[in-house]
Parts: sequence; structure tokens; C-alpha cells
Amino acid sequence: MEKLSLKDFPDSQKLTTKRSSFLESKALPNRPFVQQRNQYAVCMIKEDRCIAEFVAIMDVVERLPVYKYRRAILYLVERHATTIVVGETGSGKSTQIPQYLKEAGWAEGGRLIGCTQPRRLAVQTVASRVAEEIGVRLGDEVGYTIRFEDQTNPGTTMIKFLTDGVLIREMMEDPLLTKYSVIMVDEAHERSISTDMLLGLLKKIQRRRPDLRLIISSATIEARSMSTFFNIRRKNSMVESADRLPNPEPAILSVEGKGYTVEIHYVEEPVSDYLQAAVNTVLIVHEKEPPGDILVFLTGQDDIDAAVKMLNEEIQHRGRHYLGLLILPLYSGLPRGDQDLIFTPTSKGKRKVVLSTNIAETSLTLEGVVYVLDSGFSKQKCYNPISDIESLVVAPISKASARQRAGRAGRVRPGKCFRLYTEEYYLKEMQPEGIPEMQRSNLVSCIIQLKALGIDNILGFDWPASPSPEAMIRALEVLYSLGILDDDAKLTVPLGFQVAEMPLDPMISIMILSANNFGCSDEILTIAAFLSVQSVWVSMRGVKKEFDEAKLRFAAAEGDHVTFLNIYKGFHQSGKSSQWCYKNFLNHQALKKVIDIREQLVRITKRFGLPLTSCDRDMEAVRKAVIAGAFANACHLEEYSQNGMYKTIRTSQEVYIHPSSVLFRVNPKWVIYQSLVSTDKHYMRNVIAIEPSWLTEAAPHFYQFRTPNPVLH
Ligand code: CDP
Ligand code: MG
Repeated sequence: MEKLSLKDFPDSQKLTTKRSSFLESKALPNRPFVQQRNQYAVCMIKEDRCIAEFVAIMDVVERLPVYKYRRAILYLVERHATTIVVGETGSGKSTQIPQYLKEAGWAEGGRLIGCTQPRRLAVQTVASRVAEEIGVRLGDEVGYTIRFEDQTNPGTTMIKFLTDGVLIREMMEDPLLTKYSVIMVDEAHERSISTDMLLGLLKKIQRRRPDLRLIISSATIEARSMSTFFNIRRKNSMVESADRLPNPEPAILSVEGKGYTVEIHYVEEPVSDYLQAAVNTVLIVHEKEPPGDILVFLTGQDDIDAAVKMLNEEIQHRGRHYLGLLILPLYSGLPRGDQDLIFTPTSKGKRKVVLSTNIAETSLTLEGVVYVLDSGFSKQKCYNPISDIESLVVAPISKASARQRAGRAGRVRPGKCFRLYTEEYYLKEMQPEGIPEMQRSNLVSCIIQLKALGIDNILGFDWPASPSPEAMIRALEVLYSLGILDDDAKLTVPLGFQVAEMPLDPMISIMILSANNFGCSDEILTIAAFLSVQSVWVSMRGVKKEFDEAKLRFAAAEGDHVTFLNIYKGFHQSGKSSQWCYKNFLNHQALKKVIDIREQLVRITKRFGLPLTSCDRDMEAVRKAVIAGAFANACHLEEYSQNGMYKTIRTSQEVYIHPSSVLFRVNPKWVIYQSLVSTDKHYMRNVIAIEPSWLTEAAPHFYQFRTPNPVLH
């Protein structure tokens, strides 16, 4: 086993996170704000809220870097159609700016202040923080909406946090987003596919709604290119009233942070196992360094869970000194209770170790972090238009990400960042910037949404970063084969429009919409709900045998989809008991979520006039409905394969069944998968066994038997 010591990080290099600001000398006095806050204080006392708590929050928010810029921000938003705010993570952009806007009256007259985030977890945590700061119940004045969860109260909600994907969906009902007075597109530097789509769409809306104000905010945006993108020329008809309209030229505001110096350390030799290296480095930092929390950047739930287990085992075996370590995972999909622990201040004598995905890079700020360990990797979406395979891949991060990660160590005092890669690698091999997700994604969902919004010329759409023509052609092909687009590349009626209306992967939507042909919509809606949550299993590495036995209790020979039906039935029969979940290694929260999502899907299908039909125990019908949506993901087991190697029918790509699947090691001859994850290999998740003849039945335009040998091609 490879061991690291602090000596492995000899070269230290200083990185400061200070920024220069052109508005430095223009910080304006804040009197009106303070007055308003005092009024708040009076209300609060009336409502009998703990005053000490309120004063503590006031104290914190007034010390945030963005506070000095409050009036400058409000001034720019008043006068400019678009304001670009750049400020380092933790400066208060997400939590404070929406509040400033509300205090300045942007939510008056029933209007909404919207703030989008690329990540669902960030939407939830930022919204609850803002509700707490204002002292209101989450879901009233301050609310949030993410897919399948709406915590807003129309008529009462003034500040609404939402994912960029949800805002794009809202455009289908309200194309000009008339409810909103200001929309803040937060974390724009992440360049997620939805953020890029949203930016293009908002630019279009601005031409029709010059009164709409946009704030584009981010930690490290290329402010100039974003400013050029939003520099819209007004139509002549608008010029007459131009004096009443905001300046179309975007304003750029740079918030000067108060980040402390961060010492950067590199390993001398490349590490072969970053997980083990991270674990060793955590233990050494705890032993050698003064108090301060540790933030470790890993890639996803799998390796975070593994590292949590490794660290907890080490703690058990080592002396008392190590019992002060508090090991906490952080990834999206984490239960609410565990999320709260992350934000609770560390008690004296303890040291928090947060093992996180790149969600802690910019979306969430953790106080108290002094040491950052950077594995140099993150899980990224990757798409190959030739093989038409989109998967999540563990890939090297960019220099920009590495700098962001390091900056997390300098929030409260000077900190240290331990990079688990060499300096030479950082300097010579790391890419300066990441590639926008738009250019490494399957575009199927994106095209459906744009088409539903009436944007037919997708290639001519004003993208912040254009997608590749190959990816575009691939997506159009798939949409055509699924019957979502017609010969003129228009959405079909009703299928195409119905798919656009469903907040699901189009393959799952087609599966639901086809289920009635097989008389099994009742079962398929349950399956669709399971496919919409991350995982219903509680992974228990320490008790693998018991865990496998629990899984076997529900396992169906047909595959994961039918297994979901068994779990669902068992959960209902138990009276939705948490005790039953605990016994069976199932996540109670996730199963409750499945029930909730299923109810929402039932409502949507009812709206389309589709009846709820059950096929009872006819699992062939269920499998055929699954194929109707996912036929393009069919695979065949290689005849002489010893290690369970499959090949995709369409592109002969090597794939394997994921160990989490009930068909792992069962290896039926023909399967269909729902999604792929890639680490060392491409792994199929949620797999079902099929008959090859069902493929030609389901998609005769896509598959045919090669004669004389009955091999599909
Ligand atoms: O958006 P930005 O990164 O500029 O900062 P923010 O998310 O608005 O965070 C501002 C401050 O609020 C930080 O000091 C956070 O620690 C704090 N905060 C918190 O305590 N709890 C949250 N759930 C969110 C933010
Ligand atoms: Mg933020």
C-alpha cells in the first residue's frame, strides 16, 4: 500500500485568491439597508424569534464581501438589462443578492425574483439558508422548485430558487417568464447544458421583454465573453422609449473577496490510488497540522462511501487522538439530516473531514475549512457522437477547477491545499478550462425542449458555446426513430409534445406513453419513478453478505426493472415502514420519494387522458414497454466472453453489467440498459433481459434480422 507523508508535498507555492475590483473606490454607504434591517428587527421581536440568533445572522451577513456592494449592485440592476457579478465562492452572491433585490422592491406587485442553480442540492440549501436569514418558513416568502419538488406558495413567494432546467420548463407555460422581474443565473461558470440553454433563451426573452433584468453571477466567469454575448441591439421600435428602458449594454461588477493565502503542496511522484492517498493524507494532516476542518474532493458517491469506510476503520484502529475526526460525506442525493451536519459548526476538540464531490467547489460554502485535499478528478458527463454513448466518467479536472478547490481552504484563515498530483502534471498537462457540458452531452433532451419552445432552427440558435454538428445529427436521428420528430424535424402530435411536457429522460417518457399498448401503465409508472431517484439501496460495505441476501429477496430473473416492482410491492405491504426498509437495506427516504414521484407521473398521464392499466403478472408486457423506450440501448453478450462482456448492437461498443444490477454475473444473452457509468469500463445500470425478436417488433425501422444468419445489426 502506498503511503504518503507531508514530505511528499515539498514544493509549496502561494496562491492568493484576492481579486482587484474596479469598484473598489465606489463602495457606497448602506444606510437605507440598515434602516430596513432595523424594521425587520422590530418585526422579529414581535414574532418572538430569538433575538440573539437574529443578531448573529445580521452580524455574519454584514461581514460578507458582497455587502459593501449592495447599493452598487442595485444601481446597476436598475440601469442595465444585464449585470454580470463576479465574486469568489462564499462572498454572498447566492444568498444575499436575491434579498437585496427584494428589499429594493423587485418583488412588489406579485412579481418574482428568480435565482437559478445548476444543482438541486444547492437550490435546497441556499433557499433554506435565505429563509432562515429572513426568518420565514421555507416555502412561503422564500421558496424553491426542483424537479418533482415544489416548495413555493404562489402569491406569497417572492424569492424563488430553482434549477435552470426547471426554469426552462416554466417557459413552456409562460414563454416570456412574465412572473419574474429579475432572474439571477447563478454559477454560470459551470457551463452546464441547462445553464447554456437558459442563457440563450433569456437573451431571446430580453429582446421581447426589455424590462426583465438579468444577473449572471459566478465565481470565475469569463466576464468579457459573457458581456459580449448579452450585448443586444435594440429594435428601432424600442429606441423611442429607450430613455425609460435599461441600458442594453451589460455591466460587470467584480466583488473583491477576502480570501486568505493558500499554500499549495504537490506530491513528488504521481499516486496510483488517489483514494488511498487521500485517506493517508487526511490522517497525516490531522496528526501534524493545527485545528481546522478538512475538505477532500473526490469524484462521486461510490468513492466517497469507500473513503468514509476506510477512514472510519483507521480511526477505530488508531489511538484516542483520532476519535476527534468527524467523517462526513457530501454529494447530491444525500438525505436531509446528513446535509445539515455538514453546515453545523464543528465543536471544540473535533475536526470535520468532509468528503465531497465537486459540489463543494463553488455551489456550497463550508465554513471552517482550512485544509483542502484535491484528488484532481471529478465525475463528468462525456458523450461520443460516433458511438452515441453518453456516460459519467471519472476525468481529470481543469486548472480553473483546481484553483477553485484550493481557494476553499482560505475562507477563515490562511490554509493549505494538498494536491494529489505532481506540479509538473498541473503545469504541463492540466487543461486551463473545462469544456462546456453542451459540447460533451447527448442533445436529445435539449432539442426536444427547444423545439417545444418553438425554436426550430436549432443550429442557428444563439448558443454561448455551439454543440457539435455530429452530436446534433445523432440526436435528430434518435428523436426521429423514437417518433418524437416527424420528417420535417417538427415535434409530432401528440407524442412529441407529450414527451416534451414530461420532466423525464425522453426514453423513459416514451416507455410510459407506450405502456398502454401493453396494458401495463400501472407497473411502468412505478418503474419510471424508481429510475428517477438515484438509488433505493443503502450501501453497506461492511455487511456485504447480508446486503446481498436482502437484494436477493427482491431480485427478479428478468432484471432490475422487475425487481423495482417487487420492492415497491413489499414497501406497500409493510405499510411504508422505515423498520422494514432498515431490515432490507433500503433507503426509506428514497422509497417515499418514489411514491411521491409516481403520484406526480400519474397526474401527468391522467392529463394526457391515458388510463391506468395493470398487466398483473405479465412481465413480458412490462419488458416490451421498457424496450419501446430504450430499444436503442440493446446489447448482446459476446459468445466466448469469460468476463461478461457485452457489445452494443448499434455501435459494437464494449459494455458490462454494473455490479449493483441484479443481473450482475447472471449475464443473460440479450439485455437493454437504461444508462451507462464509466470508470475503468462502461457499466450498464438498470438492466433488463429481453428476447431479440422484441427489438424488431418494437423498432422495425431501427433493427432488422440479418439473413440468412439471424443476427441483429
Ligand atoms: O454564492 P456565494 O458563493 O458568493 O456565497 P453564498 O452561498 O451566498 O454564501 C455566503 C455565506 O453564507 C457563506 O459564508 C456561507 O457559509 C453562508 N451559508 C451558510 O452558512 N449556509 C448555507 N446553507 C449557505 C450559505
Ligand atoms: Mg453561490
